[in-house]
Order: sequence, then C-alpha cells, then structure tokens
Amino acid sequence: MEEKGCKREEVISFLSGYRAEDLHHDHILSSMCTIPHEIAVSVHQMFSGTNLGDPGLFPGTTKIEDLLVHSLGELMHHPGAGGYATSGGTESNLQAIRIAKKLKPESKKPNIVVPASAHFSFDKTCDILGLEMRIAPYGENYRVNCEKMAEMVDKNTISIVGIAGTTEYGMIDDVRRIGKIALENDIFCHVDAAFGGMVIPFLPDPAPFDFEVPGVSSISLDPHKMGLSTIPCGCLLLRKPEQFGTLNVDTPYLTVKKECTLAGTRPGADVAGAYAVIKLLGREGFRDIVAGCMENTRRLVEGMEAFGYKRAVNPIMNVATFSDGRIPEGWMVSHTRAGHLRFVLMPHVTRDVVENFLSDMAAIQ
Ligand SMILES: Cc1ncc(COP(=O)(O)O)c(C=O)c1O
Repeated sequence: MEEKGCKREEVISFLSGYRAEDLHHDHILSSMCTIPHEIAVSVHQMFSGTNLGDPGLFPGTTKIEDLLVHSLGELMHHPGAGGYATSGGTESNLQAIRIAKKLKPESKKPNIVVPASAHFSFDKTCDILGLEMRIAPYGENYRVNCEKMAEMVDKNTISIVGIAGTTEYGMIDDVRRIGKIALENDIFCHVDAAFGGMVIPFLPDPAPFDFEVPGVSSISLDPHKMGLSTIPCGCLLLRKPEQFGTLNVDTPYLTVKKECTLAGTRPGADVAGAYAVIKLLGREGFRDIVAGCMENTRRLVEGMEAFGYKRAVNPIMNVATFSDGRIPEGWMVSHTRAGHLRFVLMPHVTRDVVENFLSDMAAIQ
C-alpha cells in the first residue's frame, strides 16, 4: 500500500485497464456463469453494505434471504424446506455432506458414494471432512450406474449423491432410483443441482430430481449460474430444516447466539439481487430464458454436426458436447475429462453469438 492515495478517476482508470484484459462474454462458451440480470446489478449495489452474518443488524435483508429460500424450496416441491444462501455450489455441497457426517457419528471410517460425473467440489469436501470418496461409474449417456452405486454403499456410507445437471454433459442422474437406495439403506441423499436446479424445472418435461423424490435429503442450487444473479449466490436446501442444527456453533458476540453457516460475514447484496430476478421474471420468465437457451443449443448441435463434429450425447439441458476437433481462435470452449468439446449455452450465448461462432467455424473448415 502506498503512503498517499490517488484521485478517484485515476483508480478507476487503473482498474479499467485490468478489466479490459478480461474476455468478453460474447466469446465465452465454456462458463456456467453469465451476465447478471440488470435488476440483480442494481439491487446488488443497493444492498452492498449488508451482512447476513449478523441478522439482528440487517433484519430486512435477512427476510429477503428467507424469501429466496422459500421461493427456491417451492420450486423444488417443498415450500417448508430449510436453507440459507451460500457462496455457491462448492459451499452447498460441503455443508450438505458435513450435515450427513454429523447425522451418522457412529461411522468410524465414513465414506460417500458419488457419480463419476461429480464436480471437483466433492474432492475438496472429502479432503476437508476426512472422508473416503467412492466413485460410482457411468452407465448409459454419462449418467451414474445406479446398480453399481448401490453395491458401493456399506455401513460406513454417510451419504450418496445424485447430480441433476452434470457439469460436463448436462445430464440428470436417475434421482428416483438414488433416493430409493438412500431409503433402503437409511442414509442421507444429497442432490447437486447447482446448475440444473434453475434449468430443469423450466424444461417442458422435467425429470424428477428434487424433494418430490422420496429419500432426497438436501439440494444445492445456484442462482449465480442460471438464476442470473450476481456472483456469489448459491443456496443449500434441506428437507428437514432442523438438521441445520447439527452445524450450530455458539456466536456469543453477535445479534444471534448460534450460527450454522460456513462463512461468518455473508453478503446480502447478491442474495437480494437473486430474489429480485426471481420476483421480476417469475416461472414464466425463466421458462422463456431456458427455452431460448435450448433453442440455441439445438442450433449449435445442428451447425457442429454439419461440420462433422459428432455429438457425445443428446443434450437434455443447455450443455452440448462433441467429438474433439479444431476451434477458431478467440473462442473459449472447454473439454470434458473424457476429451469431448464442451459448450455451455448460457443466456449470454445468444443466437447471434452462436451464428458468429458457426461462421468462424466455417472459415476454418
Ligand atoms: C454440478 C455442479 N456442482 C457444483 C459446482 C460448484 O459451484 P461453484 O463454482 O459455484 O462453487 C458446479 C460448478 O460449475 C457444478 O456444475
């Protein structure tokens, strides 16, 4: 830090130089985040000084968090779900598994069984919590093989996990079957819908993946992905709100005396922004957004197949994957662990962006 500060314009100009180095969204085809909705940005600023970590100081903002949790609980077919706004899917997954561990203290060598598609946040979770991570292999179409998953469960298993909207292929595991395995073995069942939670309910014929499925104990879903909120906004929901109590610690010097969240200080700005988007768009608005993303996904698949790139799976969501091949310079596309080209058709990947990409593809054929 320098001794003397500088003028406001200088600071802004200095930072603008760095911001200019960032890639433009109109060339980012690999991200599960997007340009936040205009209302989320305005509201974010309005709530920028709020701290959900000390609810007695910000009772209004705390009510907005409750409204967000209630709306998302309703969307997940359980208006009575408990929950709180996390920093994203990683924290939600970690906290869900922490709860599962607390609920089974008798397990001396605890393990969790996750699909091969599991996001790397489960590696972090197992490392932090000292758990064995058992990886159930893929069955068809990059969805978990539930028979194998069931075989991997033993008396030390504290949770099984299903993914609704896999990071790499946008697939949905057979959550009905996974929930059944959980009930048969009397274990916790976490559904990672960090991406799919705000896509699947808005598809014309949504696969069952949420609290509608008996046996599902908790769900991660991220407004900062398809919910068009500002970053960082995730949400962890629990079928039985009282289970959050397993994580409580005493917080003697705050306005509340107990806390179950991972972070202490927590932003209210993104949470208010996320709720604003939900309130503004309603289910109808989200259905339109998802329909647009799906239409663009179909157009991309059609265009890529015309160039001879074979689809890896039929997209169910706005994720498209293909056999590997050349990509025009300047475009950000990622690869799956199995080596397929991977595109995420987020709302910022508009029809124009897709057409621009395909015309650059045509130029390199
Ligand atoms: C299915 C899934 N779970 C969890 C995460 C982690 O979310 P975050 O990066 O918000 O922590 C991601 C990120 O893409 C994801 O796709």
